[in-house]
Amino acid sequence: MADDLDKIYEYPFPNPSEEEVAFNDGAIRQRPAGLPSSYDEGGSTRWTPDAIAEVQALAQLGRYQVRGYNCFNKQMPTFDDLAFVPATMTRLPLEGYRENCELETILGGGSPYVEHPLKLKIPIYIASMSFGALSASAKASLGYGASKAGTMTCTGEGGMLEEERTASQLLVYQISPARYGLDLDHIRRADGLEIVVGQGAKPGTGGLLLGMKVSDRVSKMRNLPPGVDQRSTIRHPDFLGADDLAVKIEELRIATNYKIPIFVKMGATRPRYDVAIAAKAGADVVVVDGAEGGTGASPELLLNHTGIPCMSSIRAAREALEDCGMSDRVSLVVSGGIRSGVDVAKCLALGADAVMIGNAAMIALGCNSPRYGEDYAKLGTSPGACHHCHTGLCPVGIATQEAELEKRVNVAASAERVARYLTAMAMEITMLAKACGKSSVHNLEVEDLRALSFEASAFTGVKMAGIDRPFGWENTAKA
Ligand SMILES: Cc1cc2nc3c(=O)[nH]c(=O)nc-3n(C[C@H](O)[C@H](O)[C@H](O)COP(=O)(O)O)c2cc1C
Ligand code: SF4
Repeated sequence: MADDLDKIYEYPFPNPSEEEVAFNDGAIRQRPAGLPSSYDEGGSTRWTPDAIAEVQALAQLGRYQVRGYNCFNKQMPTFDDLAFVPATMTRLPLEGYRENCELETILGGGSPYVEHPLKLKIPIYIASMSFGALSASAKASLGYGASKAGTMTCTGEGGMLEEERTASQLLVYQISPARYGLDLDHIRRADGLEIVVGQGAKPGTGGLLLGMKVSDRVSKMRNLPPGVDQRSTIRHPDFLGADDLAVKIEELRIATNYKIPIFVKMGATRPRYDVAIAAKAGADVVVVDGAEGGTGASPELLLNHTGIPCMSSIRAAREALEDCGMSDRVSLVVSGGIRSGVDVAKCLALGADAVMIGNAAMIALGCNSPRYGEDYAKLGTSPGACHHCHTGLCPVGIATQEAELEKRVNVAASAERVARYLTAMAMEITMLAKACGKSSVHNLEVEDLRALSFEASAFTGVKMAGIDRPFGWENTAKA
């Protein structure tokens, strides 16, 4: 037997040359032929081409990378993992063209301390996006578009822009920890006040505006030197915890004569506890911004690796309000990665009273539109793939303070697109709500949804399609 193994087999024909044996087509010289993925496409599951590029970037720059837009972490779920189960036999649908479905949304309406709650025609509004991150023309366009659709906008950090106040029938004024642009006169001209304690794109850290966007006008409004990076603080100087926050809210109520609602906006991290604290401190509206939330600029590691998905924060936030007995008193707004009326309807069904949109509104405005292709190319990108808001060189004039670029925003046309987009989303929501048999979009409920993946079911407590049971929420789900 051993003799047999030692014996080298000889073909009954001449041995082929190495060149003949090699897979010449497509094979790389000096490398043994293998499956294509092993060399060219990065066979390692850990050292993928992206991971290698990341190390190279850090090694070259000696610092973390900053960029705009939103989270690129592929593990982040989308609302597509949930589907509606419209009325069939156990429930009756509404007639799509003959029966009405109410969309009106009131924020701060349950509070005994608010004389003028915010009445919106639709359950969607434009998120806080600062003048500085966006151009004045973009802010004005968002304001006019929102007003036409019967909804509101928010200033974001850095003060109130006159163009936005003129354009927005309803405008919420943001009070950030850094107090940039904070002005008592602006507080009194606002229709609501938003104390921001965090954002989904970068929870636990403050705002960031790179120097190329700190123009003379921005620097005057924020009382900062022009051209220098602005890194906002994250902790408010006048409150550390719930007790001081309650005092701060009271102070703002006195400043505005108990007329307008006070919002508290936070990144989604521990919504079950954070929302309860904000509600107990006296907030009229709590805004929970999921990890998918957009930004003008943020360290990329925070965008991709901090916070929890919007989808997973909504029911926890609603349950927090219920547990405190404040579900009727405090309105719940959510945001982060919302793209369509379908996404909005799913948020409402999970327990939100309204949603706000940032990136989606920018896209309706003209972000990533296929014009000025050569300017996208200069940034190393192309229409449809741009996320370069942090550079201040936005090809379409939205996320810039360069006068020549800003001229590219046609305010009237942009406002009209925003208005049409909001209107179209509202139609999508009512179509789904009527199919589920609801005469108000606010009657959408968790039972109207089924999860298409175990993850989505575990994140939300929504029943898994097919088995009709929530996956992993046995101890906490109330539905
Ligand atoms: C260009 C831009 C600027 C923003 N500026 C602010 C800001 O000044 N203050 C703030 O609290 N959030 C800011 N945000 C976050 C939004 O208010 C909101 O939380 C987020 O955009 C929602 O997620 P979405 O973009 O996926 O809809 C900004 C977002 C964008 C896209
Ligand atoms: S087109 Fe402008 S607003 Fe849109 S991602 Fe690029 S830089 Fe940002």
